[in-house]
Amino acid sequence: MRRLLVIGIGAGDPEQVTVQAINALNRADVFFVADKGADKHDFVLARQEICERYIRNRDYRMVHIPDPERDRSSPAYRQAVDQWRRDRAGIWAGLVRDELRDGECGAFLVWGDPALYDSTLAVIEQIIDMGTVELDYEVIPGISAVQSLAARHRVSLTQVGRPVHITTGRRLATGGFPEGCDDVVVMLDAHCAFAGLPGAGTDIYWGAYLGTKDEILLSGPLPDVADQIQAARAAARARKGWIMDTYLLRRARAR
Ligand SMILES: C[S@@+](CC[C@H](N)C(=O)[O-])C[C@H]1O[C@@H](n2cnc3c(N)ncnc32)[C@H](O)[C@@H]1O
Repeated sequence: MRRLLVIGIGAGDPEQVTVQAINALNRADVFFVADKGADKHDFVLARQEICERYIRNRDYRMVHIPDPERDRSSPAYRQAVDQWRRDRAGIWAGLVRDELRDGECGAFLVWGDPALYDSTLAVIEQIIDMGTVELDYEVIPGISAVQSLAARHRVSLTQVGRPVHITTGRRLATGGFPEGCDDVVVMLDAHCAFAGLPGAGTDIYWGAYLGTKDEILLSGPLPDVADQIQAARAAARARKGWIMDTYLLRRARAR
């Protein structure tokens, strides 16, 4: 029986790593690190830094996992993601079997929280279903980019007795605000979907590279700041080669 820990490591600031996560880091013999190519080098480094900072008096091994190519051109988004997860499960299963000795503990360090827009849990379930390697796993929650965003802007995500909706840029672009909900958090938005909304009566709280030295925060009425955010985003992306940004849209309630 191999044991895996799925550890949420926060969304950028090493001080967001919880005591529970630090204790879990100190139980692991092997860290599996998904290597997603040159532009994701910073994320591999961030994980290595966390290990060096928090693991005490313990030998551990780092195993880099090659990430299979995902077909981003396919119009069948769901099927393309499912295929990519299956490919990943095959690669991960082989590595867990070969790199983790019986009785040892392996760990996946997940950006933010494993429960939000992350495929690690689904891939591990797929490995278990494949039945080629016997394993058990535990999940340690992390501070998500969503919580970081709210804290840095000093806003609550929920208004009194009201819901908050978390979605992707792709969904916002096609669906706008959902019925009965005036507070929407948007992640994974490569195309500034907020710019396509009517905007009047809506405030935006935007954050990029939250918790890092490159952090950018902008907020205000959407029609007033949409252009500024797009310009800041494009400039930062050109400078660093990649960007991660998240935002809260808050629409004034119709009376
Ligand atoms: C694949 S999802 C992973 C989310 C992660 N599991 C979490 O809990 O934050 C990646 C998206 O999270 C958001 N994100 C993650 N880290 C961020 C950061 N430091 N600053 C701003 N947005 C971030 C961005 O919307 C990005 O497109």
